[in-house]
Amino acid sequence: MSPALASDPRFTAVERTLKQYQYRPDALIEVLHVAQEAFGYLSDELMDHVARQLKVPLSRVYGVATFYHFFSLEPQGEHSCVVCTGTACYVKRSGEIVKRLEGEFGVKAGNTTADGKLTLSTVRCLGSCGLAPVVVLDGEIAGRNTPDSAAAAAHHLVAEGKPEKKPVAERPRRRGRRGGTP
Ligand code: FES
Repeated sequence: MSPALASDPRFTAVERTLKQYQYRPDALIEVLHVAQEAFGYLSDELMDHVARQLKVPLSRVYGVATFYHFFSLEPQGEHSCVVCTGTACYVKRSGEIVKRLEGEFGVKAGNTTADGKLTLSTVRCLGSCGLAPVVVLDGEIAGRNTPDSAAAAAHHLVAEGKPEKKPVAERPRRRGRRGGTP
């Protein structure tokens, strides 16, 4: 582990959680959850450390980290915009919303803008199909969007500046596009 990571105050939360769960391998999701919250994403170094401490294969850590929607392996932007591309949303033009946002912000879905302001991503069904097409902006769900309304809301969000960090109340959510168990 690098000295930079070891001396990072955010790392304390990860260490505390490892201890709290007595380094049990079945605490993997809880530990990754805390690491994600503390750092905003799971770096290779962090995952390697967790794998060593819990004595689980690194492949297992990567498997869990890529299986759940909550986890990210890349640094995230100040703001997040997630567009649902599940069937109900797609038939109501969510594909056009994605294209519009990609064009407006100059970024492909799944990536962060060059200035680090916005991460644009897609997800397969958020379970709010009655509100289709659904867009989630910094964790706030907005329904019945159009390309215009989604673009306006995303611009408004970015113009607001850095959001307050909110506690995460939810457990990690499975990525809809994957099947099976990690
Ligand atoms: S398909 Fe978008 S919320 Fe279900």
